[in-house]
Amino acid sequence: MQVVLVNTLRLYPVFPVLARVALKDTKLPVGGGKNQTEPVFVPRGTNVIMSYYAIHHDANIYGDDVEEFIPGRWDHIHPDQYQFLPFGAGQRACLGQPKALVEAAYVVARLAERYEILECRDKEPWEGEIKLTCKSANGCKVAFRKE
Ligand code: HEM
Repeated sequence: MQVVLVNTLRLYPVFPVLARVALKDTKLPVGGGKNQTEPVFVPRGTNVIMSYYAIHHDANIYGDDVEEFIPGRWDHIHPDQYQFLPFGAGQRACLGQPKALVEAAYVVARLAERYEILECRDKEPWEGEIKLTCKSANGCKVAFRKE
């Protein structure tokens, strides 16, 4: 169950982009130079915008089939805390992560218990509506059936 949830959060992170402001001159350890392996100088006051969506869709981390919904990939990949960031990382990481994952698992388990078939009723391919958070632009058009 957890791999289904984390794989969903990987492909469709609720917060696709987050930002920080440098309060003092600082250096990011990598990302600079020709191969992005050198440090990057970040002067005080700089806005640093991080695309978690891009990291979650990086084939170097998740494999060539990165766009596929394959929960089983978590059996053989081990992204570190800055490669998989649906809840952020570091000192300001989400405090509600365990609560969110337990509640989502509970809802999915109860739906699976009650219904046998889940059908997509969206005629369009998935499209993201990106504001502060990201959600389906076309709404959540699904049907649950007993048979
Ligand atoms: C799927 C559900 C959720 C997702 C994807 C999510 C994601 C995030 C992310 C990305 C951040 C920002 C981390 C950062 O700035 O580095 C955050 C912060 C936070 N979240 Fe969540 N969150 C979720 C649910 C919740 C819930 C249920 C609660 C509380 C009941 C919660 C409480 C917080 C708090 C208090 C912060 C601010 C932490 C700080 O700045 O020190 N979140 N969340």
